[in-house]
Amino acid sequence: MKRPVIIDCDPGTDDTIALVMALAAEELDVKAITTVAGNQTGDKTAINGRKIVSYLKKNVPVAHGADKPIMRPLVTAPHVHGESGMGPVELPDPVTPTLDIKAWDLFYELTVDKSEKVHLITLGPLTNVAIALMKYPALKDGIEGITMMGGSACYGNDTPAAEYNIYADPEAARIVFDSGIPITMVGLDCTHKALLMKDEIDSMASVPGTGAKLAQDMMNHIYEFATRFGFSGAVMHDPSAVTAVIKPELFVTAPYHVVVETKGKYTTGKTVVDLMGVTKKDPNVNVVLDIDREGFVQLVKKLLKSYES
Ligand code: RIB
Ligand code: CA
Repeated sequence: MKRPVIIDCDPGTDDTIALVMALAAEELDVKAITTVAGNQTGDKTAINGRKIVSYLKKNVPVAHGADKPIMRPLVTAPHVHGESGMGPVELPDPVTPTLDIKAWDLFYELTVDKSEKVHLITLGPLTNVAIALMKYPALKDGIEGITMMGGSACYGNDTPAAEYNIYADPEAARIVFDSGIPITMVGLDCTHKALLMKDEIDSMASVPGTGAKLAQDMMNHIYEFATRFGFSGAVMHDPSAVTAVIKPELFVTAPYHVVVETKGKYTTGKTVVDLMGVTKKDPNVNVVLDIDREGFVQLVKKLLKSYES
């Protein structure tokens, strides 16, 4: 039984690898892809989403959402993902049209009053999800759960305290974390262990097909960036989040109470994880603490092999 999912993303080099994996996974029924401003501006992440789906020849609708966070100016990451958002890769113009519906309205159309609940995978700032929850309060009953790449129980990567996806729109993140929707948080505690080593990336060069080539080009780009910061491999942030939905058995998770800081001079965007239970508040998030890296690498290779040449 395929699991119906919507993927909200800000492509994005690692978002691209995550989409290559998710669109190949027999475990998932990708109902739609929605894009949000984050790694790059809204217009760039929107066309990147359409280009990726077109290039992979997948018949999945793509809708765009927010062009800026709900209360703050947009801070993009060209130093990580390049001016286009796609690193060194240039894909052909898309044939996939932009749906004439905003991401948050599509979330509503695909989830409320439906016989099967949809799982939401988020790979960027939570702006679209927050807008959807504000506009459609019933949405939280239509979404089975959210698996997000974001946050951490440890340190940050955009500030010493905050991970980028949360820091980019902390007010949106607070709305989502406080919503009561079951959340699995795939944060830096996990993704900084989800590394692809150079020999593993090189071994994928022999895999035929569009998906493998696109993913490997992005992996090499991420590898060059990550190793400059002392990592021994390419950090697979967003691919970890989609893997957590495809093969949850590869992960170690624990339930904790988590709130998002939105006011701290040095801590805005921090996911404050009550590891010691000192607040006595019920857990609202399944925090991912570890990953079976070998199993992850095997899954990446398997999914890349599923694309026709
Ligand atoms: O902190 C990593 C996250 O920020 C990833 O989703 C990456 O694509 C960027 O959006
Ligand atoms: Ca992303």
